[in-house]
Amino acid sequence: MSKPDPDAVRATFTRVARRYDLANHMLSGGIDFSWRRRLVRLANTGSCSSILDLATGSGDVVFALECGLESSPEIIGLDFCEPMLTQARKKRDELKLNADKFPFVVGDCLDLPFSDDKFDLVTISFGLRNLADREKGLSEIYRVLKPGGRLIVLEFSQPYWWFRPFYYFYLRLILPWLARLVTGDREAYLYLGTSISNFPNRFELCKELEAIGFKKVVAQALTFSIVSLHHGCKE
Ligand SMILES: C[S@@+](CC[C@H](N)C(=O)[O-])C[C@H]1O[C@@H](n2cnc3c(N)ncnc32)[C@H](O)[C@@H]1O
Repeated sequence: MSKPDPDAVRATFTRVARRYDLANHMLSGGIDFSWRRRLVRLANTGSCSSILDLATGSGDVVFALECGLESSPEIIGLDFCEPMLTQARKKRDELKLNADKFPFVVGDCLDLPFSDDKFDLVTISFGLRNLADREKGLSEIYRVLKPGGRLIVLEFSQPYWWFRPFYYFYLRLILPWLARLVTGDREAYLYLGTSISNFPNRFELCKELEAIGFKKVVAQALTFSIVSLHHGCKE
């Protein structure tokens, strides 16, 4: 099974950056808002004074956390695609949020530019699937979390068996054409289908998190298990 090529991933997101949000909301039928709300609800179950949002893209997880958290932490968004970060910074300015409190930085999830034991919470939403080396990415997350810190992963998963035929029909045949209408880029969304079908189901991903050292790993299936929300702690 081929691994995502970082240069190709960056080039894909560079091409779709300006239309990424619109495509996301349209192609998911707006369900992406409720997935992020579930992530925020889970974040609110523990300490959140310093947060890192990886593969932040256009920053929607940062903004959802800023809006929905009971505390008022600094949240760093990190991504290796500058045009996606440009969109995030634009939205941050429109929302009149403080750039020092919500910095968007260029960086690679496989080599995080942070010291050990720094964050209470690391989030990664629809990013893990794109990493060339998932084990390295998860180890980096583990390294930068404080002892007692938490990881939340929101990611596509494998849908319930009875839903699979409808889902893959949509993903392989309908979505790329719809995506071409919205973004002008059918190829980017053919990649989406391939990367989803290559990704482990929630039970397998739980095992990968435990193999890195995460404890109390749990996963919730959302929307017929199209997506799953994972939670793990560093001891
Ligand atoms: C599907 S988008 C997700 C954006 C956002 N988190 C969301 O939920 O909408 C995936 C993002 O991962 C970023 N990405 C992929 N591999 C990366 C890496 N190794 N380091 C940093 N960012 C990466 C891409 O540039 C892209 O912005």
